[in-house]
Amino acid sequence: MSQFKDPITLAFSGASGAPYGLRLLEVLVALDYQVFVLISSAARVVLDTESNVKLSGNEAKATEQLSALCKAKEGQIQVFGKDNWFSPVASGSAAPKKMVVCPCSAGSVSAIALGASDNLLERAADVVIKEHGQLILVPRETPFSPIHLENMLKLSQLGVTIMPAAPGFYHQPQSIEDLVDFMVARILDHLNIEHNLAKRWGYGD
Ligand SMILES: Cc1cc2nc3c(=O)[nH]c(=O)nc-3n(C[C@H](O)[C@H](O)[C@H](O)COP(=O)(O)O)c2cc1C
Repeated sequence: MSQFKDPITLAFSGASGAPYGLRLLEVLVALDYQVFVLISSAARVVLDTESNVKLSGNEAKATEQLSALCKAKEGQIQVFGKDNWFSPVASGSAAPKKMVVCPCSAGSVSAIALGASDNLLERAADVVIKEHGQLILVPRETPFSPIHLENMLKLSQLGVTIMPAAPGFYHQPQSIEDLVDFMVARILDHLNIEHNLAKRWGYGD
């Protein structure tokens, strides 16, 4: 039996918003979840640009880097390359039932809506949809075009949760970290994971 809570797939695609994904990973690790991490080629560029994380293209090295960054236990984070069709996330028989794409590019939204399955991120999302698992997309683009909106509507009607990276300001954020935590808290709420990242509206201090 695994020493960790049920695995969650966390995919980074090439939209702006790498700090959301990194913080989500850090919190999931701190809460003892096992996390299977997928990273598109464009996401590597964005991570480098937005967070100074220069992630190796090698699965084992990338796993080591993210594990060190998030203080994960051995085996808690596993990075799978974009063509690793032998990874658990590639098949309905083994894939985690929960997956978050954070941040999610308009390109990945489109590929997922189409069922393209052309890289592991797209395939894993396709598997979660076909297995009636929980898929959460955190798109970041502005403005949204009718193409983006149509794709998101289609996915939403299929049961996919669309949570645009749109933090609120009603909790009076004092820092960028507060804004990031706002989004991460909402994602955790939808994953049904208890946390204490942000105050809930109407519950006072
Ligand atoms: C620094 C950087 C920021 C980007 N920001 C966005 C963005 O906010 N939203 C988006 O949809 N695409 C954005 N892109 C473009 C995507 O990375 C590009 O469309 C890519 O093909 C998406 O591929 P992926 O979905 O496989 O990661 C950005 C690219 C770079 C390099």
